[in-house]
Amino acid sequence: MPYTYAYFQKSADFLKEKVDFTPEIAIILGSCLGPFAQEIENPVVVDYKDIPNFLVSTVASHAGKLIFGTICGRKVVCMSGRFHSYEGYDFEQLVIPIRVFKLLGVKTTILTNAAGAVNTGYRPGDVMIISDHIKLNGSSPLRGPNVEEFGPRFFDVSRMYTPELRKLALDCAAGTGIRVHEGVYMFFTGPQFETPAEIRAARILGADAVGMSTVTEALTAAHCGMPLLALSVMTNMAAGVLDRPLTTEEVDETSKVIAGPFSAYMKKIVAAI
Ligand code: HPA
Repeated sequence: MPYTYAYFQKSADFLKEKVDFTPEIAIILGSCLGPFAQEIENPVVVDYKDIPNFLVSTVASHAGKLIFGTICGRKVVCMSGRFHSYEGYDFEQLVIPIRVFKLLGVKTTILTNAAGAVNTGYRPGDVMIISDHIKLNGSSPLRGPNVEEFGPRFFDVSRMYTPELRKLALDCAAGTGIRVHEGVYMFFTGPQFETPAEIRAARILGADAVGMSTVTEALTAAHCGMPLLALSVMTNMAAGVLDRPLTTEEVDETSKVIAGPFSAYMKKIVAAI
């Protein structure tokens, strides 16, 4: 499939027909952080499956809807449900949402995810502002013919997690009751959770948290020069940190508990951007 500029324009043109305003901020909601979507005022909801040239969500806890609306007076577009390589998508396909947001006129992207804590100073329920990432698995989403309209073939990623937005998110943490850290996110392809040996290796390499998403979207945003903030919710201690197997129930349980405070934190950030 040739991912030309016109390919992404087709999705964006369809969405521009549905919505009569330009969203300023795009927010991708990670697994089980879906309840934040209920905070959107005057929502216009579009199913992924109705959007031409878009992808569909195959994960049960991911709604598969794009929600346009207002949060704290700011025009937003929210992805309730995202796409992962473990669903069978090629890395190259994972550029689609961010490029469509860029064409819609979005100025800033906020990515959120559920992650396992590698840093033993972290606890489930903590939030980590991603300061950098490690991706040694799988290919780049920017592999293949470069679409020059979005950005250059080779591009800098040394400041891709926008320092000003990281500072803003850190400042907004005060008074939320959430423990907020800054740290390094390491990408694993999943869908299996990592082995204890992989987690020990990740720690040696400098990772504070691990997860199966986010970096593809982050790299796409960096390629098109879009300011970016990425937040990880620690839903569990990573494999082998505690002497028990990891379960999806544990991940879902923490997500449920943190959803309220995390939504309040996110609203504060959106208002401050
Ligand atoms: N590993 C990878 N992805 C995750 C984890 C984890 O421990 N927890 C939530 N998403």
